[in-house]
Amino acid sequence: MNGNSAIRQFHRWTSIVFMVAVIFNTVMLVLGRQATWVGLTALFPLILLMITGLYMFALPYLAKSRTPSPARDAA
Ligand code: HEM
Repeated sequence: MNGNSAIRQFHRWTSIVFMVAVIFNTVMLVLGRQATWVGLTALFPLILLMITGLYMFALPYLAKSRTPSPARDAA
């Protein structure tokens, strides 16, 4: 498994953790038991998703700028 697919797997499984946290937040909201720490259980995986997601978004552009392109080099 190379680094990029490890990042993709991490993003995939963190999305499950985030989903559980959203359900947990909703249940606590319905029970009227809101608290800062409850919100943080969703915020923390969301921040990890954002970082790994932005990295995956940038990957194709990073790959293009590293691969020599005859068309671009000729220009
Ligand atoms: C917070 C900002 C997020 C950003 C910037 C982001 C970005 C991305 C990107 C760029 C991809 C790769 C798409 C491709 O195949 O080219 C991806 C895949 C994915 N994202 Fe996100 N994402 C974010 C949040 C989330 C959230 C909140 C969830 C679900 C709770 C999620 C679930 C997934 C899943 C399941 C995949 C597919 C992973 C795989 O291929 O195994 N992401 N995301």
